[in-house]
Amino acid sequence: MSAKTFLLQNSETGDQIELDVRSGTVGPDVLDIRSLNASTGTFTYDSGFAATASCESKITYIDGGKGLLMYRGYPVEQLAEKSSFIEVCYLLLHGELPSTDELAKFDQTVRTHTMLNETMLRLFDGFHHDAHPMAMVAGVVGSMSAFYHDTTDIYDPRHRDIFAHRILAKMPTIAAAAYKHTVSQPFAYPRNDLSYAKNLLHMFFGVPTEEYEVDKVAAEALDLLFILHADHEQNCSTSTVRMAGSSGANPYSAIAAGIAALWGPAHGGANEAVLNMLEQIGSVDQIDKFVDKAKDKNDPFRLMGFGHRVYKNHDPRATIIRGACHKVLKQLGRTDSPLFELALRLEEIALKDDYFIEKKLYPNVDFYSGIIYRALGIPTSMFTVMFAIARTVGWVSHWREMIVDPDGRISRPRQLYTGPVARDYVGIDKR
Ligand code: CMC
Repeated sequence: MSAKTFLLQNSETGDQIELDVRSGTVGPDVLDIRSLNASTGTFTYDSGFAATASCESKITYIDGGKGLLMYRGYPVEQLAEKSSFIEVCYLLLHGELPSTDELAKFDQTVRTHTMLNETMLRLFDGFHHDAHPMAMVAGVVGSMSAFYHDTTDIYDPRHRDIFAHRILAKMPTIAAAAYKHTVSQPFAYPRNDLSYAKNLLHMFFGVPTEEYEVDKVAAEALDLLFILHADHEQNCSTSTVRMAGSSGANPYSAIAAGIAALWGPAHGGANEAVLNMLEQIGSVDQIDKFVDKAKDKNDPFRLMGFGHRVYKNHDPRATIIRGACHKVLKQLGRTDSPLFELALRLEEIALKDDYFIEKKLYPNVDFYSGIIYRALGIPTSMFTVMFAIARTVGWVSHWREMIVDPDGRISRPRQLYTGPVARDYVGIDKR
């Protein structure tokens, strides 16, 4: 029995049960309701899991009221300013910042596992030229379970390490192959002498006919966006990875499930939807009309890139990316960015509107990220793929934590059944 308990009383019978209260290192307590069904015969109802902690985790912490995000205890602002994506990957996977040697070894391991099996590369030929890159990436990542079934014993720590390094290293290559397929250009093989972000840009924009020099500013901007997207505790795609993985499924399949979940416009697909929305709005004088549409309950239109299940003050990632937009656009010589101007104005108008104030709707990570991707020349349909590359390390970290969790069980929620009660089958001639 833990020190703190919570008393629950049945209003009909007066029966009481005591539930353990569990405390984390920081953040709200949770009620341990695991004994609830056995002792009362009831379940809890929490659609969308808005009030449910699905697991214990040591990876990422968010305080939505304060707009605070920490990876392994380090505030994301400090990591964005001082760290690199590859170092953040190490931190998320291992729990601590690496020493110089550890970082060099980890970086080298990731850099030297970037190539794809040539057969895997040929899978892209099976996709139509206008297939959405997220569909291709989800399919090809899922196919990795067919290529690497010899090293996916989930109970073998060495196999888990191989999986982690392999998927981290190959995600940019798979993403670039998907992009090259959409533009019918020859695939550019990875270069192990380049950093994670530089290699990605090389594979995206390099062509066999000429030397491609990777832009330092572009690589730094990408690295920053990757740090900010690397993890976000139990979001929809991460919970999907945990849930799929909880059955003991092949980890590549679990990551493919996470990619599929990320694609939705309420989640990672929002970055693509934001750019499409800004283009649809078109000019500052149209903003009021679209803000009114977003507020209209009878109109399905929502302000994409606004609102968050957890952040009710500000999303710290959006604040950093807004600042980075100013810097990157200036450094790239794109001082005249009508889309960025439009986004700034839209934010300003929405944040003064009672509807958005009352519902605590602020710009989220996806509101400004597309402006930077666009400035780097990345097409809109690839935005969510960029998110998937960055979030892979988060998914892998959570999958690894889940596999060794002593409390871990197959995820199997219950339901409140409201369908028909038992009835007898009626023959077709009597219906
Ligand atoms: N525009 C207009 N109204 C909104 C918006 C929006 N973007 N977001 C929420 N609302 C309203 C919503 O209609 C609801 O109103 P009411 O209480 O009158 O029914 C209220 O605000 C609460 O919203 P909710 O949908 O119950 O909140 P949720 O926690 O279930 O959903 C969300 C969160 C992010 C899915 C939602 O805010 C949304 O659809 N935003 C737009 C899509 C988006 O930007 N997604 C990216 C999220 S951040 C990155 C990531 O997760 O990958």
